[in-house]
Amino acid sequence: MTVKQKIPQDFLDDLIARNDIVEWISERISLKRSGSNWHGKCPFHQEKSPSFSVSQTKQFYYCFGCKAAGNIIQFIMEYHHYTFLETVELLANAHGLSMPTLTGGKQENHQEDWALMQAIAKAYQQQLNKAPKPMEYLIARGLSNTTIKAFQLGFAPDEWRFVLNRFAKDPSNMKRLITLGMAIEKKNSIYDRFRGRIMFPIINHKGQVIAFGGRVLNQETPKYLNSPETPLFHKSDELFGLYHVRKQTQKISKILVVEGYMDVIALANHGIHYAVATLGTAITPGHLKKLLRQCDTIYFCFDGDLAGHTAAWKALTTALPHCHDGTHIFFSFLPEKEDPDSFVNQHGKDSFEEHLDKSLPLSTFFMEKLYQNHPPTSLDNKASLAKEAATYLKQMPEGIFKSLLYKSLSENVNISVEELKNPQAQPTQSRQPRPRMRPASQTKSSPIRQIITLLLHYPSIASKLNIDALSNDTTPGIPQLKHLMQILEKSPKIKSTGALLQHIEDPTFKKQLSQLAGQLIFTQGDEAAALAQALINQYLQSKIKHTIQGLIRRAEQGLLSSEEKSKLQQLITQQKKQN
Ligand code: GTP
Ligand code: MN
Repeated sequence: MTVKQKIPQDFLDDLIARNDIVEWISERISLKRSGSNWHGKCPFHQEKSPSFSVSQTKQFYYCFGCKAAGNIIQFIMEYHHYTFLETVELLANAHGLSMPTLTGGKQENHQEDWALMQAIAKAYQQQLNKAPKPMEYLIARGLSNTTIKAFQLGFAPDEWRFVLNRFAKDPSNMKRLITLGMAIEKKNSIYDRFRGRIMFPIINHKGQVIAFGGRVLNQETPKYLNSPETPLFHKSDELFGLYHVRKQTQKISKILVVEGYMDVIALANHGIHYAVATLGTAITPGHLKKLLRQCDTIYFCFDGDLAGHTAAWKALTTALPHCHDGTHIFFSFLPEKEDPDSFVNQHGKDSFEEHLDKSLPLSTFFMEKLYQNHPPTSLDNKASLAKEAATYLKQMPEGIFKSLLYKSLSENVNISVEELKNPQAQPTQSRQPRPRMRPASQTKSSPIRQIITLLLHYPSIASKLNIDALSNDTTPGIPQLKHLMQILEKSPKIKSTGALLQHIEDPTFKKQLSQLAGQLIFTQGDEAAALAQALINQYLQSKIKHTIQGLIRRAEQGLLSSEEKSKLQQLITQQKKQN
């Protein structure tokens, strides 16, 4: 469950209706009015002539240059780098609204989920001293009692029903254990997921146990077993150890990202309390955002081998879109066959931190890697280097850091910055022409796409449209159209593009819709409903035409069943009626 779903949709509708997007944006950037729209220079990319527009009626902004788009909530989030909740709070405070209590049925259930997970963690902790082996293992790995307690390490005994026997007395809890990934149901039998493993609780930013990692004590496989994705645990968003970092440090100045649970724990054991680990996955944009909300300096530590370098490059490409001015990202490589755990145990805290001080800044690692891939010894290589570099640099947010990277690249390959940015451009005409605004009717667009565009611009026409004839149609675009119609039917209060977009949960769909909404169309509001209905009819007719053509082709080959024959008859009659 995302945070977003916890805020009631009604509250968000109200928030968007009360906060005028033009007012908020014009307090931050200078806007000039033209008609019902406002124009200015885009705050999300550097430009000389304004291509950023804000519509008061649509409560929506769009940039023709960089395609940034969204409603008031997206604007504040992007402009101030706020989280969703921080943005909602800001907009609510502006009108003296208090934040809604984040309860609701789901939330209450989670309280019980968290309590259960915490109780299980406790039970595992108690098992650590019941048998000699697990504790011996942790001591052999150098961990102090303080560290073991700080990370709430525990042990899952090698039993099929350790958790089940203690926590599934009633059947509803049994289901809960399965949902939370603690028990597995297979062919009518139910058993504990974690057996005979050292247990590492995965703790969220509030200190709640949301999942576990478990390690074997010997050479068995899999070495580590993690909780599956559950309603509490989304692997690609969580960082092991982040709670510990926040608890240990008042003002976090840097965070070190390592690969393993034991790396984080061994570092803390040696007094390095600023390490976190991904959970066996590569770093994701979600991780980066989370990290950069804590501080602006991130170190990545990788093995010195080929796999380490490949993983580091992947981390770099994920990080580039988040490299604002003032963000510092470093890459550290350990000697081969070492990980932070073995390094710090062998050489101690000071050596480890000295090694960290020698990390490569992102810019150095980036350039070195590109030169390795394309040694700039020939013109060909320089061209391919420039091309690859430009595809990466393009993804960076505008700023001095980006300009400096372009400049350094330009000096190294002897190609002007302008040309690097825009390889097809003639030197005399290097600036991209401003995209022209076209009415939707002139763009090459399917009828369904056009209907969606109209709905986006004039949400109120939904009540006048009839799409019953599309009920069994699953042609691409139709399910999306139906989804929009359902939202508008349920919330007839939605009056603007911005308000409608706030109801879309799927991020990809939301992005597509934002881009569609950005294409200005010049149809008047009162014509929009009629136009949309006409487009629906046009779509239905062309569908009938295609079905008839298909059936006729089969008829000519003598392949038509009697059922199909009557269908053909029926369709032809229908078509005649419509014409
Ligand atoms: P130790 O041997 O305990 O020092 O572990 P490590 O952290 O050095 O392990 P390794 O470098 O092999 O793996 C790094 C991280 O990848 C671990 O912390 C796990 O999150 C994950 N991982 C490693 N092995 C497995 C596995 O077999 N299955 C899964 N799902 N994850 C693994
Ligand atoms: Mn290790």
